[in-house]
Amino acid sequence: MRRREFLYNGLAGACTLAFAKCSAPKAISSVDSRIEILIGESLGTISPDIYGHFTENLGGVVYDGIWVGENSKVPNINGIRMKLIEEMRKIKAPVVRYPGGCFADSYDWRDGIGPADKRPRRTNFWSDGEESGAPTSHKYDPNQFGTNEFVHFCKLIGAQPYLAANVRSLSAGEFYRWVEYCNSPAGATTLADMRAAAGYVEPFNVRFWGVGNESWGCGGDFTPQEYAIEFRRFTTWVPHYGQRLSFVASGPNVDDWNWTRGFLEEILRKGRSPLRSIYGIALHHYAWNLSRGRTQDWVQGKGDALNFDAVEWYELLREGERMESLINGHWHIMGEVDPSHAVKLIVDEWGPWYRPGSEVTRGDQLEQVPTLRDAVFSGMTLDIFNRHPEKVAMANCAQLINCLNSLYLAHEDRFCVTPVGHVFAMYAAHQGGQAVRTMFSAPTISYDRDGKPAAFWGLQGSASLHDKDLVLTVVNPAIRDPREAEIVIRDARIKAVVGTTLTHPDIHAHNTFEQKEEVSPQTKALPVSSGTLTHAFPPASVSSLVLTLA
Ligand code: AHR
Repeated sequence: MRRREFLYNGLAGACTLAFAKCSAPKAISSVDSRIEILIGESLGTISPDIYGHFTENLGGVVYDGIWVGENSKVPNINGIRMKLIEEMRKIKAPVVRYPGGCFADSYDWRDGIGPADKRPRRTNFWSDGEESGAPTSHKYDPNQFGTNEFVHFCKLIGAQPYLAANVRSLSAGEFYRWVEYCNSPAGATTLADMRAAAGYVEPFNVRFWGVGNESWGCGGDFTPQEYAIEFRRFTTWVPHYGQRLSFVASGPNVDDWNWTRGFLEEILRKGRSPLRSIYGIALHHYAWNLSRGRTQDWVQGKGDALNFDAVEWYELLREGERMESLINGHWHIMGEVDPSHAVKLIVDEWGPWYRPGSEVTRGDQLEQVPTLRDAVFSGMTLDIFNRHPEKVAMANCAQLINCLNSLYLAHEDRFCVTPVGHVFAMYAAHQGGQAVRTMFSAPTISYDRDGKPAAFWGLQGSASLHDKDLVLTVVNPAIRDPREAEIVIRDARIKAVVGTTLTHPDIHAHNTFEQKEEVSPQTKALPVSSGTLTHAFPPASVSSLVLTLA
């Protein structure tokens, strides 16, 4: 029995337990789906920043993941892992958020500047969660990687820095000083001189500033009204130094509509001008509850990153798909007080979150191994952002390396790109394009959710126009069935198509330090007939098609 047959039969076996109806996998034979792209109906420009990243000083993200140190045997540029820099250049990383997450509201930026050997060691916010064998740098922050190193990392990869300020345990005055350190002109202030002494004479010109993180929880346990008052205090009269400052307010946890409404109402209590200081409101949504509706318990509800059945595959996607209704719901509330929608949505933490157990490096807190399931999840999420370009100005996948939905795994001199990393590479071509309306029609997936019928859509995606090139990304979430789709471009003919597909016969497939290419994209030219295209999307796949239009 060949590998694919074996795996299909294995799934069909699982199917008898998990699915009400099971039939043999369908052969790729007949057109059962249609994708219509209305290139005349622009939805807006896709902000490159929705392809952003998140790096928190947590577990193995910074120490080991990004920072290896200048004297390391691991190839590096000024202490930063060279392989990571190379990979991030390939995906056109637009923006990186740092230093947290929850860590941000415990961090004193002054600890991370000045001569490296004079920097203090501090207890990391996450130290209590570290197991006994974890490296010391994970528990006690050596502060070798601070503002200078982070901004330098961003420069090396061609991304913008997005710094998150400490609202819980530092003053607004300290926030202004951080802005001054980063942005005041060469020679103008004592802090600019300190920056120059570290080798950075010219200002960093940091534009994006998060004002706290999860201020409803680890970031201070504020009510939305209390936080709005803090936000006003932190953002009033911050020196600009000629740099546009874009302040991001800590936003709602998932569907906490009350946070969004309460925050904005309180902001407006002093008139409309404070509204103008908000660039975006940061929504966080993790897909973690795979309990099929049995519990809302944060620990009990989680599933395993590597061992899951067919139902858990769909449950994860179902949880992730909530992103679209969250965007619409919060946007609607924002429009109640800001009808012209000057304030945008920022999704600065998103991704699946599993229970501990799949860490590739012992002691890497919150590290999990992304599989093909997470690639499909990520493609689906990026497509959702692409379909709402007028609403979502930035998004940051949590987190870049050695953590939750990571693009990369690394330990010492070992490194691999995960299936999620491949999806980011495949979707990079959307950046800056004109999102256009798409209509997907495909058979719905039916499955048995513990005795109750459940359904999930059969094919979804997004499209963007770049002069004569149309970028179309498509997710087929069905574990067993390929979807053969007629792709119709309204008012245009297709001249040529190059397609890239990421899939694997085993839905649990993932990359490891030993088998780096187990899940890797395949690219080829696709046949076009009389200006039209019919394409088979394999089961459990993410595809990216670049169509040259006549
Ligand atoms: O990404 C891990 C944590 O999840 C972040 O620190 C926090 O903001 C969120 O709860």
